[in-house]
Amino acid sequence: MKIALNGFGTVGKAFAQILQEKAQTLRQDYHLDIQIVAIHTRTRGTLYNPNGLDIKTVLTRNDYHDLPDATQEAFLSLITHDEIDAVVDVTPTDLQTGQPGLDVCRQALSAGKHAVLASKGALAVAFQELQSKAEQTRSHLLYEATVMAGTPAIRLAKQALAGCAITEARGILNGTTNYILTQMESGMTYADALKQAQQLGYAEPDPSGDVEGWDAAAKILILSAAIFGLELTLSDLDVTGITQITPEDIAAAQAAGERYKLIASITCDGGSVRPMRLPLTDPLANVNGATNAITYRTDLMGDITLIGAGAGPRQTGFALLSDLIDIHRRG
Ligand SMILES: NC(=O)c1ccc[n+]([C@@H]2O[C@H](COP(=O)([O-])OP(=O)(O)OC[C@H]3O[C@@H](n4cnc5c(N)ncnc54)[C@H](OP(=O)(O)O)[C@@H]3O)[C@@H](O)[C@H]2O)c1
Repeated sequence: MKIALNGFGTVGKAFAQILQEKAQTLRQDYHLDIQIVAIHTRTRGTLYNPNGLDIKTVLTRNDYHDLPDATQEAFLSLITHDEIDAVVDVTPTDLQTGQPGLDVCRQALSAGKHAVLASKGALAVAFQELQSKAEQTRSHLLYEATVMAGTPAIRLAKQALAGCAITEARGILNGTTNYILTQMESGMTYADALKQAQQLGYAEPDPSGDVEGWDAAAKILILSAAIFGLELTLSDLDVTGITQITPEDIAAAQAAGERYKLIASITCDGGSVRPMRLPLTDPLANVNGATNAITYRTDLMGDITLIGAGAGPRQTGFALLSDLIDIHRRG
């Protein structure tokens, strides 16, 4: 399978590293040979070798000027070439425009190439359009990395639970806010817990996307489209973050045997993200630190809760690999 990468930052590099480490296993156990033939980034240009780039060399290079034209337009044309089977988008997430992943994804799917995404923007703004395009061209659109990184939240719902009706999904889908709430329970103020989360690399210098609930909301949009087939936008969701939670709120919940969690939930009627007090008997109440979790309510199996890492370069790189293996198995 020959793939092109759009973006080559923290996740893209971790993914390339995993491909290198797993090359032999993939060949032996899955009869799958994945070669990166193109890499495009905003500032570094485009690397291209139709026979496969040498990953070890690529990981140490900073200039990517294999092609004279390093524009996005040139990359959009490149990904339609016959030898490319799939495009992997690992560019930053823009929840307003969906770009740059949206144009790349549209172009790839229109040309019958599979699209695998770690970025959430394109799905948050155009899920149904992209899904229809994939169906028209008999290509696959996969996005396991976008919700809980490599913890298989989407694959559990779509594949392992196929045959069950899922009536609700509710989860802790943002590690930064869960880390902050956990630290506040042990006595820290919101400001100190946020500062610590930033020092540990959990929170961005501008943490608003996390602490105001928008990152979790984007994941809810993706789940609502993937599981319930809903066409929602961010403005359809009721979104409240954790910025107004005080140490007194946390203490009051503790005194009542409860715990504050930022809960993202979705049913066939719509979705929300808001801080909620959960009884300690709820599995989600016992998910602490930067860990994520999701509970699916089903007709045949009752509640099923999946707990695991929700971020991290290798965890996200693994999710991309798992999608490519899935595409390979679908034939
Ligand atoms: N990190 C995680 O744990 C995690 C988990 C799940 C999902 N994700 C998602 O994965 C994506 C990538 O995250 P990351 O941490 O790898 O980001 P990153 O380190 O900032 O890397 C982003 C890459 O995208 C490139 N890029 C930016 N704008 C571009 C454009 N217009 N065209 C082509 N390339 C462009 C950058 O190019 P330059 O190098 O030239 O600047 C860089 O190589 C994000 O959407 C993120 O939300 C991340």
